[in-house]
Amino acid sequence: MDFQLKSLRLAEAAAAKAPALVVLVAEGFQPGGDALSALIRRATDGGDFRAEAGRLLASYGSAGLAAERVVLAGVGDGCPARVRKAVAAALGALKGGPAKALTLCFAQSPAPEAVAAAVLAAADTAYVYTATKGKDARKDQPALKQVTVGAPDAAAARGAFEQAVGIAEGVRLAREWANRPANHATPTMLGEAARALAKSPRIACEVLGPKEVAKLGMGAFRAVAQGSEQELRFIVLRYGGAGKDDAPVVLVGKGITFDTGGISIKPAAEMDEMKFDMGGAASVLGVFRALAELQPAVNVVGLIPACENMPDGRAVKPGDVVTSLSGQTIEILNTDAEGRLVLCDALTYAERLKPRAVIDIATLTGACVIALGGVRSGLFATDDALAEALQAAGEQALDPCWRLPLDDEYAEGLKTNFADVANVAGRAAGAVTAAKFLQRFTKAYPWAHLDIAGTAWKSGAAKGATGRPVGLLVNYLLGQAAPKPAKPAPKAARKSAKPR
Ligand code: BES
Ligand code: MN
Ligand code: ZN
Repeated sequence: MDFQLKSLRLAEAAAAKAPALVVLVAEGFQPGGDALSALIRRATDGGDFRAEAGRLLASYGSAGLAAERVVLAGVGDGCPARVRKAVAAALGALKGGPAKALTLCFAQSPAPEAVAAAVLAAADTAYVYTATKGKDARKDQPALKQVTVGAPDAAAARGAFEQAVGIAEGVRLAREWANRPANHATPTMLGEAARALAKSPRIACEVLGPKEVAKLGMGAFRAVAQGSEQELRFIVLRYGGAGKDDAPVVLVGKGITFDTGGISIKPAAEMDEMKFDMGGAASVLGVFRALAELQPAVNVVGLIPACENMPDGRAVKPGDVVTSLSGQTIEILNTDAEGRLVLCDALTYAERLKPRAVIDIATLTGACVIALGGVRSGLFATDDALAEALQAAGEQALDPCWRLPLDDEYAEGLKTNFADVANVAGRAAGAVTAAKFLQRFTKAYPWAHLDIAGTAWKSGAAKGATGRPVGLLVNYLLGQAAPKPAKPAPKAARKSAKPR
């Protein structure tokens, strides 16, 4: 999708040729003398339109307007959340129609965050999954190719707009990989996707296979992978936006490309949704896609342990004890609690990167879905500053999370007579006990864990990946970046540049 930002007053929007024009109208709109103002006033007086969020009025070939289709969309007080809702509704109404380009214009000066919300909502609504559809569905996609965002004063929103365009690319990539079925998104294919990202400036990638992972001593990760015909991959992505000695933020994404549960097999109903169990990994790929676009001054390493969790003659069995990379032994009481097993070895690996913070992202527990549903991701952290930064980034990105506790009492149930730790506790507080398990492997750095089991995808008629929490993570990383120009200025220019 191609996005552009333009300064556009209503009179100019009325005169601009476009297959479709969406006008975002906030409460307190003061009509001017132009044709769009006249339309908004007539529709409001006639009782067919209000500036209430999500309210729509679609018209066709209206007098005095150069656009073929016009959709008036109410945005209430104009806050980012309401703008998102309105843009989703307006583009939803146009989706499936013939318009391949549209102008999305704010009737009143928007806050920069509202412009960002509009871009993200437009990209989100326009996304169409086609990778495994037939030829007819694939040709001529995406239907909507071009969005021009218009605001009375475009310059004020330029920075927020560009960030949002970068994040939207990342969200799209995350959705795309998470949506692909397990036979089209194997650990090997995820490794290739990571390698493709390394073609961008400042990104490097290394993909380890079974031999290297065995040599490292990742016994917990290997135990999960051993029941599958698909080879495991351990993906290491590096983005170097800051100085060599700048400690990186490390992102660890759970990459279970399919979770049958293993020998502790899951029931058949909705098991297909376990193709989304690499949503954490997809979000890490998406973040790197956004970093490639935005080039912020921060160092980031992405770690993805990727494998399938399958039942098999060679599969790990309940009661088996394995040795993790940390040296801690683990009794695998339930082979369906596999996410924590692949993550714990990646978390230990992260130590050698001397990180400033490590954040893991995982579709980890059904219990988190029960606790928080699809609205907020679960957040756990050993560091309050890190937790607060992630919470704030989530609010700003409209990709929110909610902090849950890590009291040591929650770890009681992980005790066993046969190893240093068991991989499951009882049914109570399942999202917390999973986090307590992970915490044992994170002593060397500030750590946060995002349980995205409820937020990474939607079920039902709208089944599909959401791309969360790419927005949250990119926002957080941009906050960690030193404010400096994306591309270093030429030497002469640098000398004369004033410190900011
Ligand atoms: N991938 C699942 C978690 C999950 C379940 C995410 C449903 C989204 C929807 C994870 O590997 C898992 O199976 N967790 C178990 C843990 C249990 C065995 C302690 C769970 O949540 O049931
Ligand atoms: Mn599982
Ligand atoms: Zn899983």
